[in-house]
Amino acid sequence: MSNARNKFIAGNWKMNGTLSSLSEIEVIKSLFGETTYDIVILPPATLLAEASKIVAGSKIKIGAQNCHQNISGAHTGEISVLMLKDIGINIVLLGHSERRTESMENNQLINLKAETSHNCKLTTIICVGETELERKNGNTKKTIEYQLLNSLPKTFTEDNTIIAYEPVWAIGTGKTATAEEIHTAHAILRNQIKKLKGTAVASKLRILYGGSVNKENSSEIFQIQGVDGALVGGASLLSADFSSIIKSISR
Ligand code: PGA
Repeated sequence: MSNARNKFIAGNWKMNGTLSSLSEIEVIKSLFGETTYDIVILPPATLLAEASKIVAGSKIKIGAQNCHQNISGAHTGEISVLMLKDIGINIVLLGHSERRTESMENNQLINLKAETSHNCKLTTIICVGETELERKNGNTKKTIEYQLLNSLPKTFTEDNTIIAYEPVWAIGTGKTATAEEIHTAHAILRNQIKKLKGTAVASKLRILYGGSVNKENSSEIFQIQGVDGALVGGASLLSADFSSIIKSISR
């Protein structure tokens, strides 16, 4: 992946999409196949191999929404990073709040998955974010610092890791964090990276915002200082919406 804080836009399809949805990826490829941004689509596991073939030779990348912490073995229903690499996937999303709550993934497990991914040369997008209650109680800083500190393995670098700040209360709710909330959270996370790995790494590592990003609010979000892109859920499913979001980077 290119870096130097190049803008990074990822579309997380979650548990949506069937073979017919691959046409959305074809459209994104035709529009942005030569892009200078980092554009990643994260379809469900069933579509990864086909999606990977569609974008081959273009600048669009396909990523997985999860992986197992082991590279093979008796883990029914799981997908290993070696299987991802086998079909040309080199990016994986980890620690999404839906997996933290629905699949009981904790920071320690996310850390293991990230370490395995890095060891196998995959880029990880690691998500952190506070709940509404944590924010209400004034615990946003404490929560996201703790998640970051414990989810990041020692193997992380500014090139193999992208952080996504996704306040849980903003995901899929239509409630977007304010520009000030986003700016503050990103500054907290970058400062934490600085403490862990120093100024050089902190100044290069990309931090995305996620949570109800859409074509109406994306332009403003991209302009917030410290925001290096977006992790988009619902609005990434249709190429018309997702392409408007990508185009809004330069609006
Ligand atoms: P949303 O999801 O854009 O639908 O709020 C974002 C995400 O969960 O990554």
